[in-house]
This record gives sequence, C-alpha cells and structure tokens, in this order.
Amino acid sequence: MPQSPLDFDPESMRQMGYRVVDTLVAYWQSLASRPIGQRAERPHLESLLNEPTPTTPQPFEQVLEEFLNKVLPYLIKVDHPRYFAFVPAPNDYVGVLADFLSAGMNIFVGTWMVGAGATQVERVVIRWLCDWFGWPDTAGGLFVSGGSVANLVCLAAARRRYPDALTRGRVYYSDQTHSCVTRAWRILGLRDEQLCILPADQQFQIPLEALRQQIARDRADGWLPFCVVANAGTTNTGAVDPLEALADLCAQEGLWLHADGAYGAAAILTEEGKQRLQGIHRLDSLAVDPHKWLYQPMMAGCAIVRHFEHLRDAFHILPPYLQDKERGIAGVDLCDYGVELSRSFRALKLWMSLKVHGIEAFRQAMEWNLHLARLAEQELRARPYWQIISPATMGIVAFRYAPPHLSPDAADALNRALVDTMIRDGFAMVSSTVLRGHVALRMCTLNPRATEADVQETVRRLHQFAEALASGSA
Ligand SMILES: Cc1ncc(COP(=O)(O)O)c(C=O)c1O
Repeated sequence: MPQSPLDFDPESMRQMGYRVVDTLVAYWQSLASRPIGQRAERPHLESLLNEPTPTTPQPFEQVLEEFLNKVLPYLIKVDHPRYFAFVPAPNDYVGVLADFLSAGMNIFVGTWMVGAGATQVERVVIRWLCDWFGWPDTAGGLFVSGGSVANLVCLAAARRRYPDALTRGRVYYSDQTHSCVTRAWRILGLRDEQLCILPADQQFQIPLEALRQQIARDRADGWLPFCVVANAGTTNTGAVDPLEALADLCAQEGLWLHADGAYGAAAILTEEGKQRLQGIHRLDSLAVDPHKWLYQPMMAGCAIVRHFEHLRDAFHILPPYLQDKERGIAGVDLCDYGVELSRSFRALKLWMSLKVHGIEAFRQAMEWNLHLARLAEQELRARPYWQIISPATMGIVAFRYAPPHLSPDAADALNRALVDTMIRDGFAMVSSTVLRGHVALRMCTLNPRATEADVQETVRRLHQFAEALASGSA
C-alpha cells in the first residue's frame, strides 16, 4: 500500500481514523451543552455547499473541517438529549463503532456462501428479539433499513398467504397507524378502497367492536378480509392496540395479525411495556426498529414473522447468476427473505451493543425514558392551562396549551407556533400533531442521556413561551 489512486499509507489511515474518533468524542461530550440545532434556509445552504464535482484532491483534514463548519451546524440533532420531537434517535457508541467496522470491512450479508458468519450473527440477534417477544422456534426475520421497510416486508408476506388479496382483499387498521403502513399497502398493489382505516377510540386504540362489525359487513359484501395491522406504540401517543383481543379475533376470522412496533415493541423489556404489549407473542408478524428504542445508529429495522419461511415464500427468486450460492454447504440466504440482495451488516451493531452493555443496561435506560415522560406529564399538570391529551404512555406524553380566553382555532395556532419558538430558542425541541381534531404537542423522552432537569427546564420554557404567545407579547 498504497497501490491504487484511492489508497493511503497505513499511517495516514490511522491519523485520519483517530481524527474522526477524536471529533466524535468531542461532539458527544459537548452535545448536551449545545443548542439542539437550527432550521436552515435553502438558498443559504445552496450557496454554501453547491459546487461542481471536485477535480483537485484536498487534504482529508480540510474536508472534515468543511463538514464540521458547513454541514453540522445546519442539522437539528436527533441524538441531542433534549430532542423530544418525533421519535428521537439517541445512538449507542458501541453501535457507532460497529457500523464503522462493518463499513470498514464492507461485510456482505446477502448470501450464506459469502456472508455465513455475519448471517449467523443476524440470526442470533433476531432470535434474541423473538425470545423477548415469546415467539416460537419457527419464527425468524431479518434486518432492514428501518420501520417503513420492516412493515413493507412483513405485509408482503401477509399478502402472499392470501391468493385473492389483490383483487378482493381488505385490510384493517386505525387512523393512528403510521403512514408507512398505507404506503406499504400501496406499494404492494392494494387499492385505496381495500384499506379500511377505522377512527381510533378515546384511548387512541383500534375500536374492537367496530372492527368486528366491519369485517362481518365486508365478508357479506364479498370482500376478503385478510390482515389487521395493530399498533405496538403509535408515533402520536404511544398507544398500543389490544393485541390479545386482536389475536383472538384474527384467529377466529383467519386473518393475519401484524403489529407495527417500530418504535414501541422494544419496550417489552420494561414493566410498562410488558403490561401494554400483552399478546405480542401471538402476532403473525412484527416490525421493530433497533434504531429507535434500542439506541442503535440508523439504519436498523427488523421484520420478524412467526413462520420464517413465509418470508421466503414472498421473496425467493433464483436467477442464474446466483446459482452458485445454492450448491455445497446449505445455509440461510437472507437475500431470499426480503427486498435487498446487497445487505450490510446491520445486525452487528445491536449484537455488539447488547454484548458490551448487557440487557440490564438497556432495561434501565428504557425505564429511565418512561420515568421522564411521566415527569413531563407531572410538570405540565402543575401549570395552568395545559391539557394532557394523552398521558405518559410508552415514553410519549401529548398535551396542549389551551387558556379559556382562546378559541380552539387560536389555541391550535398557538401550539403550532410554540414548536417554532422552541426551535428558535434552541434549548429543546418538541413536535406537534393533530389529536381529536386539534393540534397537540408531543414530548417523546427516548434519550437515555436526558436528565430530569432537561425535562423540567423544557416544560418551564414551554410554559413561559406559551404565556407570552397567549398575551401577544412574543
Ligand atoms: C410507529 C412507527 N412506525 C413506523 C415508523 C417508520 O420508521 P422508519 O422511519 O424507520 O422508516 C415510525 C417512525 O417514527 C414509527 O414511529
């Protein structure tokens, strides 16, 4: 070395790598004392970053500095301890290093022939997840990019089991379900009229009786009901649909029961999660995202099915140029169980993280997250005019500032404005949604590095800004 025009000598490689590690450690150490980041004007970034393809080489150090000075400041930091918006993405340092290793060795996990060791690790990690959820030995799955694709992969397996699904199939879920589920059905070829989206009840759960009646009506009308998509933690409020009752219903009706647990399913490790997720052992398939509540760097989602071979039924195709993988030692070709052939070693991060920390550390971190959501609720309740729209559930609390002198529309505008005010302030970020027809704010307290003081000060600022906006002084 160096042999190709793209290579460096070993000492330069080391120095470049050390520089990146030093940068990361400094970033991690200073994150809590920095603002969460800012929204950027597009023309500004275009003028800052647009340029023709580079022709002359630049020192690595210089390009790294450019990233730090021109890119990083224009990101809102989803790993920031006070990023309580959407679904936070606090990543574990072991997972970060695992991604570095995996990219550094460019490990391919598409076929057993080429990626046996990595495939086996992926199988082990998926088995751990199946054990947490109480799933039988027949269960299996694979890592994908995230929740959207995990849902898609599981629902493809469901559709495949029902030969008439495309022509007269009907699927059921509540209006609290993540939009990626509707997108998945669209990709899978279902028409809008085949999607039966039921208004959720007061607890933001799927209404069981209405669902039962709808299925009966649909059968009478010639539809083929074939799948219920339950929520194992909605993005809006953390609500979990009644999985046990849904499993009974789906067993009686011969329907596939899938759950989107992208954000919530990992809470099975906690007491609250165990309670809320009762029945999760009876699902046909489940999406769960280690890049959410298992603290892994993006991208890491898992599609898990009760019968692993159902994924193979849905995805396996053998072209001639892959025939070599079928000869000799028999293994598991994960490319036959999902949409990707070239697959990176996403399982490595969770494998290393769980081994280095042990499961108890994860459980404690998650219990802390749940505690912080309850604390946020308590802090809000202690101040006037804050309505709790959905109490702390699976680490999410949803609320709204609604002083009596404001009309519901004016309160909607104020709550929306609060999100922007908080971003401009830079201390913490919350996000908004619409619940029961009105704007609600959400805090999702998934970062294990967030402190009680972070939550308390965030609520204090929310209140201060809300009062100022309501009095017209902001
Ligand atoms: C419940 C739920 N499902 C699916 C998704 C989509 O996951 P991803 O962003 O990893 O594709 C999310 C994202 O927040 C989610 O909260």
